[in-house]
Amino acid sequence: MNIFKAQILTLFPELFPGPLAHSITGRAFEKGLWNLSTYDIRTHGTGNHKSVDDTPYGGGAGMVIRPDIVAAAIRSAKKDMPKGSPVIYLTPTGEKFDQPMARKFAKLSGIILLCGHYEGIDQRVIDKEVDHCVSLGDFVLTGGEVAVFPMLDSIIRLLPNVLGGDNSLHEESFDIIDKDGTPLLEYPHYTRPSIWEEMEVPEVLRSGNHAKIKDWRLEQA
Ligand code: ADE
Repeated sequence: MNIFKAQILTLFPELFPGPLAHSITGRAFEKGLWNLSTYDIRTHGTGNHKSVDDTPYGGGAGMVIRPDIVAAAIRSAKKDMPKGSPVIYLTPTGEKFDQPMARKFAKLSGIILLCGHYEGIDQRVIDKEVDHCVSLGDFVLTGGEVAVFPMLDSIIRLLPNVLGGDNSLHEESFDIIDKDGTPLLEYPHYTRPSIWEEMEVPEVLRSGNHAKIKDWRLEQA
Protein backbone atom coordinates (compact mmCIF):
# COMPACT_ATOMS: atom_id res chain seq x y z
CA MET A 1 0.00 0.00 0.00
CA ASN A 2 1.18 3.52 -0.84
CA ILE A 3 1.05 5.34 2.49
CA PHE A 4 1.30 9.10 3.01
CA LYS A 5 4.81 10.13 3.97
CA ALA A 6 5.84 13.43 5.59
CA GLN A 7 9.47 14.43 5.78
CA ILE A 8 10.41 17.37 8.04
CA LEU A 9 13.57 19.37 7.30
CA THR A 10 14.42 21.07 10.57
CA LEU A 11 17.14 22.24 12.95
CA PHE A 12 15.11 20.71 15.79
CA PRO A 13 14.32 17.09 14.83
CA GLU A 14 13.81 16.19 18.51
CA LEU A 15 10.49 18.09 18.46
CA PHE A 16 8.92 15.33 16.33
CA PRO A 17 6.60 13.42 16.30
CA GLY A 18 5.42 15.38 19.40
CA PRO A 19 1.60 15.58 19.58
CA LEU A 20 1.26 13.58 16.34
CA ALA A 21 2.24 10.45 18.29
CA HIS A 22 -0.97 10.74 20.33
CA SER A 23 -4.71 10.29 19.91
CA ILE A 24 -6.09 9.77 16.38
CA THR A 25 -2.90 10.63 14.49
CA GLY A 26 -0.84 8.41 16.82
CA ARG A 27 -3.17 5.44 16.37
CA ALA A 28 -3.13 5.97 12.60
CA PHE A 29 0.68 5.97 12.70
CA GLU A 30 0.71 2.69 14.64
CA LYS A 31 -1.64 1.20 12.05
CA GLY A 32 0.81 2.23 9.33
CA LEU A 33 -1.58 4.69 7.67
CA TRP A 34 1.05 7.43 7.49
CA ASN A 35 4.73 7.84 8.11
CA LEU A 36 6.99 10.61 9.38
CA SER A 37 10.72 11.15 9.12
CA THR A 38 12.92 14.06 10.10
CA TYR A 39 15.99 15.35 8.36
CA ASP A 40 18.42 17.44 10.41
CA ILE A 41 19.50 20.45 8.33
CA ARG A 42 22.59 20.75 10.54
CA THR A 43 23.94 17.53 8.97
CA HIS A 44 25.17 19.84 6.20
CA GLY A 45 26.44 22.60 8.52
CA THR A 46 30.00 23.88 8.20
CA GLY A 47 32.95 24.00 10.60
CA ASN A 48 33.36 22.56 14.08
CA HIS A 49 30.03 23.95 15.18
CA LYS A 50 28.17 22.71 12.11
CA SER A 51 27.06 26.27 11.54
CA VAL A 52 24.07 26.76 9.22
CA ASP A 53 23.54 30.52 9.22
CA ASP A 54 25.30 33.82 8.58
CA THR A 55 24.67 37.55 8.88
CA PRO A 56 22.30 39.14 6.36
CA TYR A 57 23.63 41.02 3.33
CA GLY A 58 22.45 44.62 3.57
CA GLY A 59 22.62 44.52 7.37
CA GLY A 60 19.85 44.16 9.91
CA ALA A 61 19.10 42.00 12.91
CA GLY A 62 19.33 38.24 13.17
CA MET A 63 20.85 35.51 11.10
CA VAL A 64 19.87 33.95 7.77
CA ILE A 65 20.14 30.24 6.95
CA ARG A 66 22.58 29.63 4.09
CA PRO A 67 21.22 28.48 0.70
CA ASP A 68 23.94 25.86 0.05
CA ILE A 69 23.16 24.08 3.33
CA VAL A 70 19.39 24.07 2.82
CA ALA A 71 19.77 22.92 -0.82
CA ALA A 72 22.01 20.02 0.23
CA ALA A 73 19.45 19.00 2.87
CA ILE A 74 16.51 19.21 0.43
CA ARG A 75 18.29 17.26 -2.31
CA SER A 76 19.39 14.57 0.08
CA ALA A 77 15.97 14.33 1.77
CA LYS A 78 14.23 13.96 -1.61
CA LYS A 79 16.00 10.66 -2.20
CA ASP A 80 13.93 9.04 0.58
CA MET A 81 10.63 10.44 -0.65
CA PRO A 82 8.11 9.37 -3.30
CA LYS A 83 8.87 11.05 -6.65
CA GLY A 84 7.04 14.35 -7.07
CA SER A 85 6.68 15.07 -3.33
CA PRO A 86 6.46 18.89 -3.18
CA VAL A 87 8.80 20.93 -0.99
CA ILE A 88 6.71 23.20 1.22
CA TYR A 89 8.32 26.07 3.11
CA LEU A 90 6.48 27.22 6.22
CA THR A 91 6.61 30.99 6.41
CA PRO A 92 4.27 33.79 7.53
CA THR A 93 4.46 35.25 3.99
CA GLY A 94 3.18 32.06 2.33
CA GLU A 95 -0.27 31.18 1.00
CA LYS A 96 -2.77 30.80 3.83
CA PHE A 97 -3.28 27.15 4.83
CA ASP A 98 -6.92 26.06 4.82
CA GLN A 99 -9.17 23.01 4.56
CA PRO A 100 -9.10 22.81 0.72
CA MET A 101 -5.28 22.89 0.86
CA ALA A 102 -5.31 20.12 3.49
CA ARG A 103 -7.49 18.04 1.13
CA LYS A 104 -5.06 18.58 -1.77
CA PHE A 105 -2.05 17.56 0.31
CA ALA A 106 -3.90 14.49 1.66
CA LYS A 107 -4.19 13.18 -1.92
CA LEU A 108 -0.39 13.17 -2.40
CA SER A 109 1.89 10.27 -1.53
CA GLY A 110 4.35 12.55 0.24
CA ILE A 111 5.28 16.08 1.27
CA ILE A 112 8.56 17.63 2.38
CA LEU A 113 8.09 20.36 4.99
CA LEU A 114 10.93 22.85 5.33
CA CYS A 115 11.08 24.69 8.66
CA GLY A 116 12.89 28.01 8.83
CA HIS A 117 14.28 29.73 11.91
CA TYR A 118 15.95 32.98 12.93
CA GLU A 119 15.25 35.66 10.31
CA GLY A 120 14.56 33.03 7.67
CA ILE A 121 16.19 31.22 4.77
CA ASP A 122 18.20 32.78 1.90
CA GLN A 123 15.68 33.64 -0.84
CA ARG A 124 17.69 31.98 -3.62
CA VAL A 125 17.15 28.46 -2.32
CA ILE A 126 13.45 29.18 -1.81
CA ASP A 127 13.23 30.32 -5.45
CA LYS A 128 15.15 27.31 -6.69
CA GLU A 129 14.03 24.37 -4.53
CA VAL A 130 10.69 25.23 -2.90
CA ASP A 131 7.37 24.38 -4.61
CA HIS A 132 4.95 26.14 -2.21
CA CYS A 133 5.27 28.68 0.59
CA VAL A 134 2.54 28.10 3.17
CA SER A 135 1.49 30.16 6.19
CA LEU A 136 -0.67 29.10 9.09
CA GLY A 137 -1.97 32.64 9.58
CA ASP A 138 -1.11 36.28 10.01
CA PHE A 139 1.21 35.91 12.96
CA VAL A 140 4.91 35.22 13.31
CA LEU A 141 6.19 32.04 14.94
CA THR A 142 9.80 31.56 16.04
CA GLY A 143 10.10 28.70 13.57
CA GLY A 144 8.09 26.54 11.19
CA GLU A 145 8.15 23.45 13.44
CA VAL A 146 5.11 24.29 15.56
CA ALA A 147 3.18 25.09 12.37
CA VAL A 148 3.86 21.55 11.12
CA PHE A 149 1.70 20.01 13.87
CA PRO A 150 -1.67 21.59 13.00
CA MET A 151 -0.92 21.23 9.28
CA LEU A 152 -0.10 17.53 9.44
CA ASP A 153 -2.90 16.83 11.91
CA SER A 154 -5.48 18.28 9.51
CA ILE A 155 -4.00 16.30 6.59
CA ILE A 156 -3.66 12.97 8.42
CA ARG A 157 -7.29 12.93 9.58
CA LEU A 158 -8.32 13.11 5.90
CA LEU A 159 -6.29 10.04 4.89
CA PRO A 160 -8.19 6.83 4.10
CA ASN A 161 -9.15 4.72 7.16
CA VAL A 162 -7.87 7.24 9.73
CA LEU A 163 -11.30 8.26 11.04
CA GLY A 164 -13.89 5.60 11.87
CA GLY A 165 -16.98 5.97 9.69
CA ASP A 166 -17.04 8.13 6.58
CA ASN A 167 -19.95 10.07 8.10
CA SER A 168 -17.81 11.58 10.80
CA LEU A 169 -15.63 13.11 8.09
CA HIS A 170 -18.43 14.43 5.91
CA GLU A 171 -20.30 16.08 8.72
CA GLU A 172 -17.19 17.85 10.03
CA SER A 173 -16.74 21.61 9.87
CA PHE A 174 -16.22 22.93 6.35
CA ASP A 175 -17.71 19.83 4.78
CA ILE A 176 -21.30 21.02 5.15
CA ILE A 177 -21.52 23.07 2.01
CA ASP A 178 -24.03 25.84 1.42
CA LYS A 179 -26.14 26.04 -1.81
CA ASP A 180 -23.52 28.29 -3.40
CA GLY A 181 -20.65 26.13 -2.22
CA THR A 182 -19.74 28.26 0.80
CA PRO A 183 -18.39 26.08 3.61
CA LEU A 184 -20.47 26.25 6.77
CA LEU A 185 -19.16 25.92 10.28
CA GLU A 186 -20.00 22.92 12.38
CA TYR A 187 -23.19 22.80 14.46
CA PRO A 188 -23.10 22.64 18.29
CA HIS A 189 -22.82 19.22 19.97
CA TYR A 190 -24.46 17.94 23.18
CA THR A 191 -24.28 14.80 25.28
CA ARG A 192 -25.50 13.62 28.71
CA PRO A 193 -26.58 14.88 31.17
CA SER A 194 -29.62 16.35 29.39
CA ILE A 195 -29.77 19.13 32.01
CA TRP A 196 -26.50 20.56 33.27
CA GLU A 197 -26.39 23.57 35.62
CA GLU A 198 -29.93 24.46 34.56
CA MET A 199 -29.00 24.38 30.87
CA GLU A 200 -31.04 21.98 28.76
CA VAL A 201 -30.08 20.16 25.59
CA PRO A 202 -32.25 21.55 22.74
CA GLU A 203 -35.57 19.69 22.57
CA VAL A 204 -35.24 18.91 18.84
CA LEU A 205 -32.12 16.78 19.43
CA ARG A 206 -34.07 14.54 21.84
CA SER A 207 -37.09 14.27 19.52
CA GLY A 208 -35.78 11.38 17.41
CA ASN A 209 -37.02 13.22 14.29
CA HIS A 210 -34.02 12.92 11.97
CA ALA A 211 -35.30 15.30 9.31
CA LYS A 212 -35.90 17.99 11.94
CA ILE A 213 -32.51 17.34 13.54
CA LYS A 214 -30.81 17.74 10.18
CA ASP A 215 -32.64 21.01 9.50
CA TRP A 216 -31.74 22.33 12.98
CA ARG A 217 -28.07 21.47 12.55
CA LEU A 218 -27.90 23.10 9.11
CA GLU A 219 -29.53 26.23 10.51
CA GLN A 220 -27.10 26.32 13.46
CA ALA A 221 -24.09 25.79 11.18
N1 ADE B 1 6.90 30.30 10.47
C1 ADE B 1 6.90 31.46 11.14
N2 ADE B 1 5.68 31.97 11.21
C2 ADE B 1 4.86 31.12 10.54
C3 ADE B 1 3.47 31.10 10.24
N3 ADE B 1 2.65 32.06 10.64
N4 ADE B 1 2.99 30.07 9.52
C4 ADE B 1 3.81 29.10 9.10
N5 ADE B 1 5.12 29.06 9.34
C5 ADE B 1 5.65 30.07 10.06
